[in-house]
Amino acid sequence: MKKVFLLSAVLVTASAFAQKQPTAWRVDSVLQLMTLEEKVGQMNQYNGFWNATGPAPEGGDAATKYQHLRNGWVGSVLNVQGVEEVRAMQRVAVEETRLGIPLIFGCDVIHGYKTLSPIPLAEAASWDLEAIAKSAHNGAEEATSYGLNWTFAPMVDISRDPRWGRIMEGAGEDPYLGSRIAEARVRGFQGEQLNDPRSMAACAKHFAGYGFSEAGRDYNTVDVSDYTLYNVIYPPFQAAKKAGVATFMNSFNTMNGIPATGNQALAELLKEDWGFEGVLVSDWGSVGEMIAHGYARNLKEAAEQAANARCDMDMESLAYVQFLASLVREGKVSESLVDDAARRVLKLKFDLGLMDDPYRYCNRPGSWEPTTSPWAADAQELAEKSAVLLKNNGILPLVKKQAIALVGPMAQEKNSPLGNWRVSSDDFTALSLYEGLVQVRGEKRMTVASGPVFLKGPISFPFEAEINTTDTSGMHAVVKAAGEAEIAILAVGEHGFHSGEARSRMSLHLPGLQEQLIREVLKVQEHVVLVLYAGRPMILPDDITEQVDAILLAWQPGTMGGPAIANLLMGKRSPSGRLPVTFPRSEGQIPLYYGAYTTGRPGPSDAVFWSHYGDGPNTPAYPFGYGLTYSTVTYAATQVKQMGDSMAVTALVKNEGKVAVDEVVQLYARDHHSRLGVQPVRRLIGFQRVTLKPGEERMMTFSVTADQLSVATSEGERMFEPGTFSFWVAPHSAAGTSASIDWK
Ligand code: BGC
Repeated sequence: MKKVFLLSAVLVTASAFAQKQPTAWRVDSVLQLMTLEEKVGQMNQYNGFWNATGPAPEGGDAATKYQHLRNGWVGSVLNVQGVEEVRAMQRVAVEETRLGIPLIFGCDVIHGYKTLSPIPLAEAASWDLEAIAKSAHNGAEEATSYGLNWTFAPMVDISRDPRWGRIMEGAGEDPYLGSRIAEARVRGFQGEQLNDPRSMAACAKHFAGYGFSEAGRDYNTVDVSDYTLYNVIYPPFQAAKKAGVATFMNSFNTMNGIPATGNQALAELLKEDWGFEGVLVSDWGSVGEMIAHGYARNLKEAAEQAANARCDMDMESLAYVQFLASLVREGKVSESLVDDAARRVLKLKFDLGLMDDPYRYCNRPGSWEPTTSPWAADAQELAEKSAVLLKNNGILPLVKKQAIALVGPMAQEKNSPLGNWRVSSDDFTALSLYEGLVQVRGEKRMTVASGPVFLKGPISFPFEAEINTTDTSGMHAVVKAAGEAEIAILAVGEHGFHSGEARSRMSLHLPGLQEQLIREVLKVQEHVVLVLYAGRPMILPDDITEQVDAILLAWQPGTMGGPAIANLLMGKRSPSGRLPVTFPRSEGQIPLYYGAYTTGRPGPSDAVFWSHYGDGPNTPAYPFGYGLTYSTVTYAATQVKQMGDSMAVTALVKNEGKVAVDEVVQLYARDHHSRLGVQPVRRLIGFQRVTLKPGEERMMTFSVTADQLSVATSEGERMFEPGTFSFWVAPHSAAGTSASIDWK
C-alpha cells in the first residue's frame, strides 16, 4: 500500500503537469519525499554487481549491494553489460524501491563502445574537431542503444610525460589543442540536448592534475604550481565546463598535499568560482584511497572528507552508503551538502529523460560485426586522418605491383589495435593490417610472417602484459620473407595493453625483440617501411630511423585500423595526422614539450653554462605538430598587421606536389616579455585543417584577439599585457618564419 502511494508520488513528478514545470521544481518535489538514507543512496555508485537477468545474489558483497539497490540506496551503476542486464537492473530500481527512482548507467565509452575509433591520443592527431566530435557522438549512439547514459569521458588531462600510460586517453601536451578537443568531445557525447536518446552525459576527468604524476608513474604524487594549473592543466576543464559537460570526476592524486577527492579548495574552484552545477563523481575507490594516502584514518573519516569536499557521488568505495547518514546525524557533514549532491544527481536524471522514461535508451540493434557496424566507416576515416607520417624518402605510397613482405608482431594483430580501453568491444575484432592490405591491394605478391612471439602468455585488462625477450624462434622466417621481397613492411610497436591505466613504462623503446628484428631485416632488405603501433610517444634508435625508408605512426587505430593504414600505404589517401605530443629522443629528456619557457640561460654557448645536456641534444626526435604528407607544402613568410582591435596573421601556403593533401596549418605566438609570468617560447593559438589540390595555393588568415594571448596569473586571473609578440604560421612547432609586432 505504502509502496503504491510513494511510487505514484514519483509518477506525479512525471505527470503532464509536472513535465511542464522547471526541472528544479521537479527535483525538489522528489527530494522532499526522500529520507536521509535515500538521498545518500543517490550519491552511491556501484560497479555492475550481479547477473541481473539471473536470480538475485545470495550471500557476499553482491547480495549486500543488491539489498542496497532494493533499499533505494544506489543512485548509479557502472559497467553493466548488455541491454537485458540494464533493463533488469533498472526494473529493480523502478519497481522494487520505495520511490522508484531510476538508475543512471555509467561506462567508460572512451573511443567507441563496440566499434572502436583510434585511441583518443590518436584521434587528437587528426586535429579534426568535427571528426572527433562525430566519433564521440557515434560512441554515444552505440552505447545508448545498449541502455547506457553516462560516459566517463573525455579525459582532458594534459600530459607531458609519455612514460605515463594514460597519455593515450587524452589529447596530448597542449592546453589549446586539448581545450578545443575537450569541447568537441563534450559536444559529440552530449549532442544538442541530454534528453536526446542518442546522447549521453559526458564527464571531464580527472580533476585535477592527474597527467602530471611524478616520474610518469600512474597514481603517483602530483606537485605543480598554481601558474601551471591555471595556464596548462585547468584550461581544458574550463573549456569542457563551458561546453556544458554534465559531470566531472575527481583525480586519484594529491593537489597541494591533499587528495583531490577530499580537496575542498578544488571543489570550491569548480563549484563556486566556475559555477559548475553538475555532478562531481569520485574516481574508482578514490574516497577509500584517502586512507592509503595517509589523509583519512578510516573509511568513515574518508566519507566525511569527500562529502565536505563536495564529491557528489562515491564510485565503489562504499563509504557514503555506510557512513554518510550517521556523519550528518553527528553534525560532521551538513545535510545541506547531501541535499545539494542528491539534487545534482536527480537533476541529471531529469535532464537525461530517465525520470520520464527509465528504459528510454534500451533499443540495441542486432548482433555486432565490425564490417557491418554503421559506425565503421567513420572509425576508418578517423584512423586514416590520425596516422602520422614521420619519415618518407619517397618509397610511400607503395605501388600495387611490388612484391611485399608484411612482417612483424603487429602484421596480423586483431586485438592490440583496439587499445586498452575496450570495456565492451569484443576482443580480436580489429581488422588487421594484413586484412586491410588484402582488401586494398589484393593478396598477390605478399608474404606474411609475424616473427618471434611478442608476449608471453595471454593478455588481459587487469594484468601486466609480459614480453618475450629471449625466444627468437620465428625471427628467421621474417628475415627470409623480407629478403625475398622487394619491400618489407615491418609492423612493430607496443601492444594495446602496454599503454592505458596503470601501464606506465620506464623505457619507451620498442618492447621485446623488435629492435633486433628490425636490424636483422635491414641486413637483408634495403627498402623497409616501419608501421609503428603505439599508445604513446616511442623512441626509435637513430640507426633504425636513419636506415628505414619510411615510418608511419598508426597508433592503436581501432576496429578499422587495418584498412585505414592499408589505404595510406597504398596511396588511396595522403597521411595528414600531426603529433599532438612531442616524441623525445631519450627518456632522459622527459618532460619534453614545445611550449617550454626560455630559462635564463637558453644558450647555446661554447662554455657549459647554459640549459642543456652534456650527452645529447635538447631537441626532440619529432616535435609537436609534426607530420608529413605525400606532397610538399610550402609556407611563405608569415605576415602580421593590425586590423582594428585584433591582428591579422597571414601566410601563403602552397601544395607543390602532385597529390591532394590535407594540411594542418598551425598558428603559434610568443609574448616576448610578460610581467604576469614568463611565457612559452611558442604557444599554439589556432589551427586550420585545409584540403589543398595539387598546385593549389591558399592565403591562410588568422585573426588574433588580445583575449587569445591572455595569460592566467597564479591567482587565476586572465589578463592581457600589451608588448611585443611574434607569430608563426607553420607546419609544426619547430618550423616556419616569424613576424613580430608591437601590440599597444
Ligand atoms: C579510472 C577512471 C574510470 C573509472 C571507471 C578508474 O580506474 O581512473 O578514468 O572512469 O576507473 O572505470
